[in-house]
Amino acid sequence: MAHQIRDLPDRAGETVTVSGWTAAVRVHARVAFVVLRDGTGVVQGVVVKSAVPEEVWTLATTLTQESCVALSGTVRPDPRAPGGHELTVTGVELIGGSEEYPIQPKEHGVEFLLDHRHLWLRSNLQRAGLKVRAEVEQAIHDFLYERDFVRVDTPILTGAIGESAGTLFETDYFGERAFLAQTGQLYVESACPAFRRVYCFGPTFRAEKSKTRRHLTEFWMVEPEVAFADSNDNMDLQEAFVCYLVRRALERCKAELEVLGRDVTRLESVVPPFPRISYSEAVERLNAEGREFEWGRDLGAVEEATISSWFDRPVFVYNYPKEAKAFYMKENPDDLRTVLCNDLLAPEGAGEIIGGSQREDDHDRLLARIHEEGLPEEAYDWYLDLRKYGTFPHSGFGLGLERTVGWITGRPHIRELVPFPRLINRLTP
Ligand code: 4AD
Ligand code: MG
Repeated sequence: MAHQIRDLPDRAGETVTVSGWTAAVRVHARVAFVVLRDGTGVVQGVVVKSAVPEEVWTLATTLTQESCVALSGTVRPDPRAPGGHELTVTGVELIGGSEEYPIQPKEHGVEFLLDHRHLWLRSNLQRAGLKVRAEVEQAIHDFLYERDFVRVDTPILTGAIGESAGTLFETDYFGERAFLAQTGQLYVESACPAFRRVYCFGPTFRAEKSKTRRHLTEFWMVEPEVAFADSNDNMDLQEAFVCYLVRRALERCKAELEVLGRDVTRLESVVPPFPRISYSEAVERLNAEGREFEWGRDLGAVEEATISSWFDRPVFVYNYPKEAKAFYMKENPDDLRTVLCNDLLAPEGAGEIIGGSQREDDHDRLLARIHEEGLPEEAYDWYLDLRKYGTFPHSGFGLGLERTVGWITGRPHIRELVPFPRLINRLTP
């Protein structure tokens, strides 16, 4: 098997073969440079005309962008070369040609790039962003595993509306109405009495008609749920979680964040405690700043950006008005107009990355909320059972993966932080 480019520093002076894709080819009269990428790194192959057989020179100098090739040669340390090493090429083998690669080293429109997403994935910025995503995903599992959370996989085809009736993908399920899951929450809540601390992590679906840079119709969400945790415990967990994810990206994705041009000092200041401001206080302050905002409405992107500009790190906004939030949130006993919940707003205008709440654990109040929202009671039989058989205080939250990675990487549009984005006008590739 071919060597990995990443391992070449240990092989100075040796003859190796590396296989990968040509990122660039530059041909001069007596020397040609073939830049090869194999997923573990990048190396520059140097082909000297007088030092190789004619057919090697001919092949090397006619390689096209994104051809798959194997380069053989000697590893030579060169501090100026990317990766600190060059390959003095002795042999070239064409594994898979590439005629007229659509993505050229020039500006392309974003729709063109999205049409070619299957190829765009190979570009530097895209690889860096998706690498950070993968690291954050792993960090999510590690954080929760280290704290004894049990992963519970929840269904994607469901009969119950998880969040709100307005944004459902509906499908026929052998004559029954089924929906693509907006959340796994109701199911992880059921697993709480089995394992105490649980989470699900998977794709969720919202038929959102919004064409913003923060909305996907399919996105990934991690949803921890904890028995005997109240709303404040819930925010403590979110704070520790987000700090852990950011630290992991800083520690293990240095090179990627550099490629992305991320100002990491902004991430280094993400340490506890995060400021906590109630919805009502936030509305008061917005109005005091002359931004007219009526108590009772949900915060929009503009208000969120203003609120996060007051702080240098993520901020919790807690206890929203009941009518702005989902049916399952627990009434605030100190102000019945509000519910015990929170959003976490990320800095730099990244907006809401987490929504969480303490859950309504009283059977009759929950049933009343289901009626108030006009939800079909029969679909929630089983969910109501949890309040009939050993009901318990519990809280949880959902962290949107793409929004979180969008903030960490500083990319303006979250569609770049998912390998194959699903947007209102896009189902392919
Ligand atoms: O605030 P949301 O709707 O909360 C829930 O779904 C709860 N069931 C979570 C829970 O308590 N277990 O969504 C949670 C997060 C948002 O904060 C946001 O980060 C992300 O999911 N999100 C989206 N991300 C991308 N595109 C969309 N259309 C999103 N909608 C929500
Ligand atoms: Mg929300």
